Amino acid sequence: PAAHPSYRIGFSQCSTGGTWRKAVLAGMERELSFHPEMHLRMLDAHDNSQRQQAQIRELVRGGIDLLIVSPQEAGPVTPAVEEAFQRGIPVVLLDRRITSEQYTAFVGGNNLEVGQTAARYAARLLKEHGHVLEILGGVNASTTANRHLGFAQGLAAFPNMHLVAQVNGNWDSVALQPLLATALKAHPEVSIIFAHNDEMGLGAARVLRQLGLRKKVRIIGVDGLEPGLVQQRALTASLLYPPAGEDAIRTAAKILAHQPFKRENILGTMVIDSTNAMTMRQQIDKMVSQQRDIERQQGLMQHLLATYATQQTALYVSLAS
Ligand code: FRU
Repeated sequence: PAAHPSYRIGFSQCSTGGTWRKAVLAGMERELSFHPEMHLRMLDAHDNSQRQQAQIRELVRGGIDLLIVSPQEAGPVTPAVEEAFQRGIPVVLLDRRITSEQYTAFVGGNNLEVGQTAARYAARLLKEHGHVLEILGGVNASTTANRHLGFAQGLAAFPNMHLVAQVNGNWDSVALQPLLATALKAHPEVSIIFAHNDEMGLGAARVLRQLGLRKKVRIIGVDGLEPGLVQQRALTASLLYPPAGEDAIRTAAKILAHQPFKRENILGTMVIDSTNAMTMRQQIDKMVSQQRDIERQQGLMQHLLATYATQQTALYVSLAS
């Protein structure tokens, strides 16, 4: 029989914590179920760029046909990615970027658009007059830089919207809390917070509650995968940031099959607020249940194949005897 091609995909993931990263992996698995020839090996850098460099080198040493990488920080992770690329291994960047052009394709959201849309939404909520505080994501992450840039550009269109304070949140809901409390005391005029992800938005909600400011200050987050947070009013709104796991695998499959592919695969965003949170939640629930159906069908298929194999063996045995 003709040999079927088999591909080893190395996936260097900066972190596997949180809803968004889990959704990336779920999307990859969904798409991989249509590609039995592709085998994924993921290493989790636990938010550490040094570890991520070492893990990229480990994946390369172990032998891979393609590397998917979501870099913790752009600068520090770049050398290891360039090494892989220079060895002829195609590289697909997911969500965050490196500082060099040595990659094969990018898949991820439009962070400038995320920032701009958040700014416009904030201006609309506050009737174009207000003081804003921004909670930044991780330092040196391309997504942090672009979300901020888009946000600042967006606010610039409204002369009475003022960005008065920033807090480093590092994508996490806990670290920001004392910093935010201090910043809010120094800036009691703040009436809206733009948090670079929903997790930090939730941390901010906790601080606001403690300071008795929950009614006065609104929060806009990013990721949008938990519309329930908006329905329960923990967040006023969230900007959907598509996890791009499926797109990463689809792009990888095209590259490996030497088919034409797009180098820049930029996914759009949309505002999730009280007007559409319920619809979004139903969509997400539907997707999860469809995923379960796919898994059940795969299980059934494997069962059938195993039964078929046993029957064939039985047949050969009876023919041979
Ligand atoms: C998860 C995450 C998401 C965010 C993305 C930005 O690690 O922080 O919440 O949207 O990374 O790179």
